[in-house]
Amino acid sequence: MTIHIGAGPGDIAETVLMPGDPYRAKWAAETFLKDARCINEVRGMLGFTGTWNGHAVTIHGSGMGMPSLSIYANELIRDYGAKTLIRIGSCGGMQEKVKIRDVILAMTSSTLSTPSRGIFRELSFAPCADFGLLHAAHAAATAKGTPTHVGGIYSSDVFYDERPDLNEQMVRHGILGVEMEAAELYTLAARYRVRALAVLTVSDHLITHEALPSEDRERSFGDMVEIALTAAFT
Ligand code: ADE
Repeated sequence: MTIHIGAGPGDIAETVLMPGDPYRAKWAAETFLKDARCINEVRGMLGFTGTWNGHAVTIHGSGMGMPSLSIYANELIRDYGAKTLIRIGSCGGMQEKVKIRDVILAMTSSTLSTPSRGIFRELSFAPCADFGLLHAAHAAATAKGTPTHVGGIYSSDVFYDERPDLNEQMVRHGILGVEMEAAELYTLAARYRVRALAVLTVSDHLITHEALPSEDRERSFGDMVEIALTAAFT
């Protein structure tokens, strides 16, 4: 057990999928894993372990924002030996060519602030995805026929943003979408030499102001889970 995860030794697989929402973790585990069992419910942050095509997989919530993800990813990596961590979540589109429901595979994530910023001080560290995972996820998404974009994203600390000028600079520099977790996940993966990727569905759009209808959310989320699982075991 750790401070925030009640799982015992051996309860967590080396491959961990991390949706922000703990109930998405439950849905994904019940839908895609065989013999899924709940291995954590401390503070309502649900985690499940089962198998997918014979491979052990854990699906564990990250919560919203980098401080929350950082707690779970640190404990999953350092205390439970997680080696492959894939965030599956939503993002806001930031380019015209990026449409609602499209998938973004985050090659890099820019950020103003992460729980790791204090380490780097004036240095602007460039958090990036594991190339093997990125490559495999792109192949999986292409095979499924899912419209997919690969490139840089922006991990913000705020959903209700008071800095429109910052978003404008992100758009101007070709950033595909905004979410709130990937930069810290990639930074931790670099620090501890594990693999990480963020697979994101565009759920709202900062330019067109469209939003994914709630009835479509489950199907889009399912596509991401399949892309992430296929990439993890390619
Ligand atoms: N996640 C989904 N949409 C988002 C947005 N517009 N900003 C930050 N995180 C998001």
